[in-house]
Amino acid sequence: MADAKKLFIKTYGCQMNVYDSERMAEALGAEGYAPAASADEADMVLLNTCHIREKASEKLYSDLGRLKALKAEKPGLKIGVAGCVAQAEGAEILRRMPLVDLVVGPQSYHRLPAMARAAEAGTKSVDTDFPAEDKFDHLPDRPAANLRPSAFLTVQEGCDKFCAFCVVPYTRGAEVSRPATRILDEARRLADKGVREITLLGQNVNAYHGEGLTLARLIRELARIEGIARIRYTTSHPNDMADDLIAAHGDEPKLMPYLHLPVQSGSDRVLKAMNRKHTAEAYLRLIERIRAARPDILLTSDFIVGFPGETDADFAATLDLIRAVGYGAAFSFKYSARPGTPAADRAPVPDAVADARLQELQALLTAQQRAAQQAMVGRETTVLYEKPGRLPGQMGGKSDHLFAVHVHDPDARPGDLARVRVTEASPNSLGAVRVA
Ligand code: SAH
Ligand code: SF4
Ligand code: F3S
Repeated sequence: MADAKKLFIKTYGCQMNVYDSERMAEALGAEGYAPAASADEADMVLLNTCHIREKASEKLYSDLGRLKALKAEKPGLKIGVAGCVAQAEGAEILRRMPLVDLVVGPQSYHRLPAMARAAEAGTKSVDTDFPAEDKFDHLPDRPAANLRPSAFLTVQEGCDKFCAFCVVPYTRGAEVSRPATRILDEARRLADKGVREITLLGQNVNAYHGEGLTLARLIRELARIEGIARIRYTTSHPNDMADDLIAAHGDEPKLMPYLHLPVQSGSDRVLKAMNRKHTAEAYLRLIERIRAARPDILLTSDFIVGFPGETDADFAATLDLIRAVGYGAAFSFKYSARPGTPAADRAPVPDAVADARLQELQALLTAQQRAAQQAMVGRETTVLYEKPGRLPGQMGGKSDHLFAVHVHDPDARPGDLARVRVTEASPNSLGAVRVA
């Protein structure tokens, strides 16, 4: 028998791309493609791309530049482009980069097996449809061997919010919720295969409304699945934080005390220009209600600095909001003008000003993150072990608040839930000892 064909996938962007890459690997696995450790060993390389900022989407072209040499050495190598740049640029990618064999968007990758067969036969293809059929119904069941104790599960895709800076409504299309029954079936199958924690994914996951169920109702249904011990969800929009979801944080024990709730800016003027449709005050009141339901919840956010028109006073308002909330972690970005978005042709903030603001913002957020890590020392928490740690007898996993934790626990196995006491905090992880 000939050696199995080998596939290498490189993933950029958000967790939804991580999940899509896993499902694409499984779809091509059914076609005989085994995973390759690097592009050098692969018969097919798939680049699963992100379009969110200019730097992210440029990576596609620098990677393709590097793959050119590899393809010259190995003419049989097939190259595919998936994800949000594929969706945004489609056939243009083939025109610009003749070494590419296939281009597939995020909504049509269930058609990858046929596209791969065509590529093997020398035919290029582009598929950036938003097909009527649900891709999830056409993907193979998830093999247990590919799953870890913590798994992603996409429940909602697309976005109708149209923030003035953002490409996602164009690359991922309108908001669509997967039917609740299918999600529950997928979750039961994951639990049967040893998954203990599920992170529900959506570009606007709390806008979920499949088969009349809200996200909170879906979480409560998922919590009834015995093997599932923990539930998380990401990413949420402040305007979709419904009362029943806040309540679930208070009384659903399997829902973890962690919430990523991006605010982007603390200035009402900027929030309005961004089309966020809420004020800083409304966000702070929302945080108060969430903390009233679950006092120890850890909050994280995304921030953009240097949005067109942002003044020193606007930026100061963002720092004030950060001080008022106290985040456990956050992502922050310098504004990047994206073609086709409403903000793209507005006058930019000078680069040096944006750079300086980003540095100041990140220093504050890093200090808050360190403080949150330090505050865990001496406290008890629960850890879901994911894999052996670096030292012998050590296990690594995530705490309820999603801190990385390592524990000396020689008899433990991935998938175990351990009660631990935190003994030390370092920037990348917490150290802890097992107490139960
Ligand atoms: N759906 C999610 C996140 C989408 S993208 C949400 O609404 O929160 C992730 C983050 O990238 C955004 O929260 C935003 O902070 C950042 N981002 C999006 N577009 C950007 C742009 N044009 N420039 C800089 N950062 C951007
Ligand atoms: Fe982009 Fe805004 Fe939609 Fe988030 S809510 S994906 S930032 S348009
Ligand atoms: Fe990037 Fe697309 Fe996700 S643009 S952030 S990969 S939805």
